[in-house]
Amino acid sequence: MNAAGVLGMSPSILKRIYDSGAGAVVTKSLGPKPRKGHPNPTFVRVEAGGLNAMGLPNPGAEYFVDEIKELKNMGVPVIASFFGGSVQEFAEVAYTLSRAGADALELNASCPNVAEELGMLAADANNVEKVTAAVKDQTKLPVFVKLSPSVTNIKIIAKAAEWGGADAITAVNTVKAIAIDVNMRRPILANVTGGLSGPAIKPIALRCVWDVVQAVNIPVIGCGGITTGEDAVEFILAGATALEVGTAVMTHGIGVYKDINDRIASYMTENGFKEIKEMVGLAQE
Ligand code: DHB
Repeated sequence: MNAAGVLGMSPSILKRIYDSGAGAVVTKSLGPKPRKGHPNPTFVRVEAGGLNAMGLPNPGAEYFVDEIKELKNMGVPVIASFFGGSVQEFAEVAYTLSRAGADALELNASCPNVAEELGMLAADANNVEKVTAAVKDQTKLPVFVKLSPSVTNIKIIAKAAEWGGADAITAVNTVKAIAIDVNMRRPILANVTGGLSGPAIKPIALRCVWDVVQAVNIPVIGCGGITTGEDAVEFILAGATALEVGTAVMTHGIGVYKDINDRIASYMTENGFKEIKEMVGLAQE
């Protein structure tokens, strides 16, 4: 899959991602109402990655209902990423997106850039459980809960999501970070802090997957700095059963999905694996 947020969310771009080898697409995070997001600059390239504070700009879940239908009509499996500012809002948005015909929901419990009522959601196991349970109450769809790596103990948060009824954990979202312009002597992003993504965070993401796999009995989706087929294999060996690729699309183009798929396949041939599931978690044994 693509990671939520990259390349925006127009149906035609998501369709291209699917046609390029992704097994499903993930929308940019949708909220209860239209949001403009943060003022510019919202993105800066840094060593081995990108730093962004978009501020969750989106047209609102209701507006996106038709886009989801359009994608479904084109035969594309759609994971709708979403967020809310309160437990109630999370539940309402989940309901709207389910009615739209999404195949699954990805609960963004971890945007680093929005400090509202649930600003500390990512780091609070009780809130993660509460929000997940409220969402599961409103939908029959599988719910993936996407966690932040910027927490003391990701195992506890993952467990809380599982208790709340999560069907899978996506590990992980971006890492909160800062870049400073030495000439202006100011932070580059208007929001000051942003979410770091790309190869810079791959070892962190891999450690998070490793920990979450040990903590829960539901599938884990790996995300964070995956660029090559070898990266993908690392996450699978750590125990991930599906993967999301985001920043690499910006650095390597849309062909990255096919390149990763092809390299996983050649790695499997070279090493005598017939099915992905034979490799899942092997490094933990
Ligand atoms: C934004 C949201 C995220 O979940 C993230 O990891 C980075 C940025 C945002 O829209 O600001």
